[in-house]
Amino acid sequence: MSAIAVRGALWFRGFLDRAAQERLVDEIRAVVAAAPLFAPVTRRGQPLSVRMTSAGRCGWVSDRKGYRYEPRHPDGMPWPPLPPTVAAAWEALSGWPAPPDCCLVNWYDPGARMGLHQDRDEADFSAPVLSLSLGDTGVFRIGAEARGGRTDRIDLASGDALLLTGPSRLAHHGIARILPGTSTLLPAPGRINLTCRVVG
Ligand code: SIN
Ligand code: MN
Repeated sequence: MSAIAVRGALWFRGFLDRAAQERLVDEIRAVVAAAPLFAPVTRRGQPLSVRMTSAGRCGWVSDRKGYRYEPRHPDGMPWPPLPPTVAAAWEALSGWPAPPDCCLVNWYDPGARMGLHQDRDEADFSAPVLSLSLGDTGVFRIGAEARGGRTDRIDLASGDALLLTGPSRLAHHGIARILPGTSTLLPAPGRINLTCRVVG
């Protein structure tokens, strides 16, 4: 499948068809049943507007101790295994010879957003980050590796995949807003985003 390159990131529109999206929603429901969504806070105690959990060997957490990967959920359980649909998407698109260590699951209520940031808590930036989107469209902004400057808009719709690779691996990126009512996949308005990372 061909990709659209935006600031070096590769955007695969409609990578997952409707049946694959439905299968992936079921797989994420099982992840959330085993490792519930939690409300992360920043080091200063400010709540993030997304709720999150993870699957894989480790999970990304943010709390008063800061940002990091942890082998267990904040409630103490191990993270569930990587869902098969996520593993298959990684194999198809990443070009990386091993599975990802972490699949971060972000849940966006219709009012949630995510400020511009870099994904830089991993040891090896030669491995890409793969994102999969489900549900309502998220208005994704991507800029340069350096802070500030112009950003470009990518509307990530249900089923879209985005690979942050090569020059875009350390690009600043974030979600400006969710566009409620743009998908019929989920029973309620909102968005699920999955990001797969090699943590090292
Ligand atoms: C992230 O940067 O962790 C999530 C990006 C997205 O929700 O598309
Ligand atoms: Mn990110």
